[in-house]
Amino acid sequence: MEKQTIVSGVRASGKLHIGNYLGALQQWVELQNQGHNCYFFIADLHGITTPFKPDELSQNTLDVAATYLAAGIDPEKSVFFLQNHILEHATLAWIFNCILPLSELERMTQFKDKSKSHKENINAGLLTYPALMAADILMYKPSAVPVGEDQTQHVELSRVVARKFNNRFGKVFPEPHTFMRKPLRIMSLADPAKKMSKTGDEAILMDDSPAEISRKLKKAVTASEAGHKSPGVENLFSLLEHFGSKEEVAFFHDQQKQGNLKFSELKETLAKDIAVYFENFREKKQELLARPDYLAKILGQGADRARTVAQATLTEVKQKIGLL
Ligand code: TRP
Repeated sequence: MEKQTIVSGVRASGKLHIGNYLGALQQWVELQNQGHNCYFFIADLHGITTPFKPDELSQNTLDVAATYLAAGIDPEKSVFFLQNHILEHATLAWIFNCILPLSELERMTQFKDKSKSHKENINAGLLTYPALMAADILMYKPSAVPVGEDQTQHVELSRVVARKFNNRFGKVFPEPHTFMRKPLRIMSLADPAKKMSKTGDEAILMDDSPAEISRKLKKAVTASEAGHKSPGVENLFSLLEHFGSKEEVAFFHDQQKQGNLKFSELKETLAKDIAVYFENFREKKQELLARPDYLAKILGQGADRARTVAQATLTEVKQKIGLL
């Protein structure tokens, strides 16, 4: 693959589960390790568009930063930073607010959904969220933006913004394409008809101890007859495909075919595999969280690298627009 510039962000809303890991984080690490020019950040300014508590916001931000670093984001290879550290994002977002028609913002599905689920707090930031996101993206002139399905409409809008800006003021921005993450169906352990989400015992968190993983898996819904196929059993198999060995997958598939699949054995194997997979991660994350100054230093260095690029883009933009 040719070397590309890639931008992506994540909102810091608490602990990540293994579905988040497979769906997003793992792909960031892969892109980074393929040698692309990657800008990854924590979208803390987007985080305050929905209800939040200040001490939880700061705690969650540190936790997510430590999670990404411990899982393989390498600050030497990727530019890794907090959105709010680069003041240029908000300035560029303001400029985009002034070229985006209100109607484009009002028709965004995320705005419509969130205005429904947060009726008590439909703030203006929720509406102009995509202008900030377009600024996050276009600032670094990427060719690709890896996001989940729920964010593709926002990336499309960033192309609309780029086009409008370029047509009116001269070419500054590329039109980045969406890099869709592999669609993943990691389901809830408690209700395999729903996607895994981080409530109660339905999710295995990246932070969970081996004992915790095994306790949660023991309770996972399977099926009444051994060997029977059910969404719960399929979910355990897809986890085994991600975290276990080929031999294990073949072994349990055979058992299933013969109609003597032992759920307890499958769950024990899976629990061990997941615990081992994240063992190194848990250790590194604890080390990072125990050194908040070091974490702050890494984020500061990432911000310095991002800022250099952001300032150059903003200078170019201002010049085109006629802002002195
Ligand atoms: N809105 C994204 C989400 O909720 C996070 C985000 C903010 C982002 N800015 C971005 C993602 C820029 C990709 C590019 O997941």
